[in-house]
Amino acid sequence: MGALEVIDPAFIQAPEHRPKPESVQANNVPLIDLSPLAAQEPDPGALESLVAQIGQACKDWGFFQVINHGVALHLREKMELVSKQFFAMQKDEKKKVARDEVKPLGYNPPQMKEVCQQYGAEMEKLGHKLLELIALSLGLERDRFKGFFEGGTTSFIRLNHYPPCPVPDLALGVGRHKDAGALTVLAQDEVGGLQVKRKSDGEWILVHPTPNAYIVNVGDIIQVWSNDKYESVEHRVKVNAERERFSIPYFMNPTHDTKVEPLDELLSSRNAAKYRAYCWGEFFATRKLSNFKKLHVENVQIYHYKN
Ligand code: OGA
Ligand code: NI
Repeated sequence: MGALEVIDPAFIQAPEHRPKPESVQANNVPLIDLSPLAAQEPDPGALESLVAQIGQACKDWGFFQVINHGVALHLREKMELVSKQFFAMQKDEKKKVARDEVKPLGYNPPQMKEVCQQYGAEMEKLGHKLLELIALSLGLERDRFKGFFEGGTTSFIRLNHYPPCPVPDLALGVGRHKDAGALTVLAQDEVGGLQVKRKSDGEWILVHPTPNAYIVNVGDIIQVWSNDKYESVEHRVKVNAERERFSIPYFMNPTHDTKVEPLDELLSSRNAAKYRAYCWGEFFATRKLSNFKKLHVENVQIYHYKN
């Protein structure tokens, strides 16, 4: 039976308005298996191939998903549960821990603090493993980034809740943006909605929910460290008419006084520094200020430091 006999022709969209066929959607952010890291005696070949995959993903997409990452599923489930418990509370209760300049963090359900601390510690471990792979993929020493995170990082966890939206085609859960920090490690639930701007053609690509995977993206700081080799890529979140969605990003950020600048080892006469150095803590404080108050100040961006 042809399509015209199944549905009223009035519903058929002109070709340019039809949803993209699967073949296009199949070109999605890479899925990378981290199991070589867990091996007792790491196989050099497998490790080398892993580093190559990470480098390719950072260059082509700025985003990838990881599986066999070593983070216990029960801990992720506990984190997801306290997040749901928090958002299910009465507005007045939630307001008690509202963020402001002097109180950027808050806890409310009884186990929340402990679970956030445990989960944050696991994210930090995974984040360092990923940074090591990224360093190797850039031809740097494995622990090249480690020092930037010693003595008190500014990393944090965010809990996102996107309620169902009656006009999902007119609104967005989070508008397009780039993450300002070093690395983001995101747990998204099975609903899906995160879209990444594909570098090859600028199309918005949905990142398919993969059970127990984490979505990783390089932030602005890695873009600067790598002197634009690994760009921080725009992303946004679609909402859903029927289903609410939860996501939990971990933002891995260096110490407050880190001076962010292209790494010397990557520079040469043919690859001059594209950025002037900036202080991460000051940069981030300016971003947060404009986020909290919607002041009429332009949001600070790394391109303001371009040479
Ligand atoms: C963010 C973000 C994506 C998501 O919080 O910066 O991009 O899927 N979240 O919620
Ligand atoms: Ni983001």
